[in-house]
Amino acid sequence: MKTNHPIILAISACLFASPVLLGQTYRDASAPVEDRVSDLISRMTLEEKVWQLNQAGFGNNRNINNIGEKLKHIPAEIGSLIYTDDDVTLRNAMQRKAVEDSRLGIPILFGYDVIHGFRTVYPISLAQACSWNPDLAREASRVAAREASGAGIDWTFSPMIDVARDPRWGRVAEGYGEDPYTNAIFAVGAVKGYQGDNLADEGTVAACLKHYIGYGASEGGRDYSCTDISDQAMWDTYMPPYQAGVKAGAATVMSSFNDINGIPATANRFLLTDVLKQRWNFDGFVVSDWNAVEQLVSQGIAADRAAAAAVALYAGVDMDMGSNAYGEHMVSLVESGIVSMDAIDASVARILALKFRLGLFEHPYTTEIPESQRVLLDSDRTTARRLAEESMVLLKNTDDVLPLRAGTTVALIGPMADNRGHLLGSWPGHGRDEDIVSVVDGLSQRIGNSKVLFSRGCDFEGTDTTLFAEALATAGKADVVVLCLGEKREWSGENASRASMELPGIQKKLLAALNRTGKPIVLVLTNGRPLILTDDEPYCSAIVEMWQPGIEGGNALAALLCGDVAPSGKLAMTFPRHVGQVPIYYNERPRARRDQGFYQDIPTEPLYPFAYGLSYTSFEYSDLGVEKQADGTFRATVRVTNTGSRDAAETVHWFISDPASSISRPARELKYFEKRMIPAGNSAVFVFDIDPVRDLAFVNSHGMPLFEAGAYIVSVNGQSVEINLAKQ
Ligand code: NOJ
Repeated sequence: MKTNHPIILAISACLFASPVLLGQTYRDASAPVEDRVSDLISRMTLEEKVWQLNQAGFGNNRNINNIGEKLKHIPAEIGSLIYTDDDVTLRNAMQRKAVEDSRLGIPILFGYDVIHGFRTVYPISLAQACSWNPDLAREASRVAAREASGAGIDWTFSPMIDVARDPRWGRVAEGYGEDPYTNAIFAVGAVKGYQGDNLADEGTVAACLKHYIGYGASEGGRDYSCTDISDQAMWDTYMPPYQAGVKAGAATVMSSFNDINGIPATANRFLLTDVLKQRWNFDGFVVSDWNAVEQLVSQGIAADRAAAAAVALYAGVDMDMGSNAYGEHMVSLVESGIVSMDAIDASVARILALKFRLGLFEHPYTTEIPESQRVLLDSDRTTARRLAEESMVLLKNTDDVLPLRAGTTVALIGPMADNRGHLLGSWPGHGRDEDIVSVVDGLSQRIGNSKVLFSRGCDFEGTDTTLFAEALATAGKADVVVLCLGEKREWSGENASRASMELPGIQKKLLAALNRTGKPIVLVLTNGRPLILTDDEPYCSAIVEMWQPGIEGGNALAALLCGDVAPSGKLAMTFPRHVGQVPIYYNERPRARRDQGFYQDIPTEPLYPFAYGLSYTSFEYSDLGVEKQADGTFRATVRVTNTGSRDAAETVHWFISDPASSISRPARELKYFEKRMIPAGNSAVFVFDIDPVRDLAFVNSHGMPLFEAGAYIVSVNGQSVEINLAKQ
């Protein structure tokens, strides 16, 4: 029977257009992701598959009239774009091209380096680690994710969790310091902050653990250089943060630039496939670092770009960032039998799975809402300020020069005092100068313009001393000098290695000159790496390591200088006393002769060790004890009393040592930390529940866990207690 009834026609049109009836499982949101992926792959040509494996750059064009021009150069089938713009309209226009102009309508995955904030830029990761507050760092990542996804970003290339022990390497700024456990804990916080509970939820972005792996061991701190990492060090030091991040559900991993013992990370099948994908069951995808596939040629592991593409894909790199070696060569590599279709399908499947999990097929476009409603909200600024306050580390405070007394007149001097941009750090995201509270603004607002006498004193570098005289005169009129020195933001980060970690000569000279005025000097440092302060420290009554604090830096510093908050940051990376000590870190393995082997010309100890940081109050540790529990675990406890007159937060770091084991262990290893506010005169009992399997076992050079009976030492703030693990 034939019918022309309009209602029946409409119903049948709906039924026939339904993806299920059309057999388009991949368009059916209710189908399992695996089914959607395999259905889609079964429909794709080899060329379409290869496009999914490619990522290119796109953006930086704020002119709406140029959109058409811009889009022309990007194929509708591309898998991913690094979107460097924050213009939602442009992003959506590109997405529309992918969805409407490509045969299968596969949406593009838009990625961006949202490293320590998108528009609300907060402290660099190294500073965040010094806060010892991973919950707050997670909250900041959540803010970044919400701002970024509101601007059309689906995926961030963060967190960077490369354990790094050489401050000459500029990228120490981007990670969480020298300790594997610290990096692991902050990795988990960042992943959860970015990804939320469900990647399809609004305000989330996919995370990317980078740079897998060992990049932090770049020889001599020279960026992109090779690394020699023993198997034991790889498992002990570099892998734990990645293993933790994978377990936390990170959606992607980035392969690193460095060669490892002769096999670059981007060509390293053992590390990418055998360990990451198979042993750890990582089910997301691996993206190369920028041009890292092509760079296999420079690294001497591939004769040309085609070979590089084949080697990288075989190793386990699913997506080629930037070099277009996959784009250019993968089709012919498959046609000539060098690369199998199965290998291509496996990589495409991983990439498509993330697109489905993000809900991109259902919601490819970003809703355009006014910027004022999605970035720099008051609550975002508060998070950024709290994180900056908690990240700053008080390194010295003679005669309680800090906090500043009420009514103090401050000579605020130094090239960083009125600078905005350098407070942002090496990955400023879309942070803008006008968003940033400088030190001079923050302090003037807190204590009043008339109490802040500003004089720049000198530039960041060079030899010009003409501004010294004015700075000295300004110091003469004040009660105290607050001297703001440090590194320009481009002096740390990628491709920003330095052989000297001292302040530039002109800045040191200014400090020495100000010292001659006899005024107490509070040195405030803004930098992206531990600095060598051995010559400078004697000139200062107080030193505050402010790091690169982000847009709320000036307010946070003012609160700290004035005592509105007590400093609670502690170092996540050792400050050497001399560059010749590098690498120097707290968790080295014990020396053969513990009373010998010291430097003859300088003390062997660093200037400021790992976990060091002062407060405006004092804490006393007592009653350290440990008890075995019925379930075989141990409960260690310590009482911490705030013996001063100010409320303040204290972080307790719990270390474990294993004095005799079949593989020598680091002299101390951080296994747990906790930060709590303790009101003046009060005490708090901190607890560390030691799970022997988690906290006392260690891995051998194949990554296999070993669990040995015997004595272990639990230490906290220089006190220790022994536990004994009986033979099972
Ligand atoms: C190179 C950097 O090493 C990496 O960290 C970053 O995510 C990519 N470029 C993309 O910008």
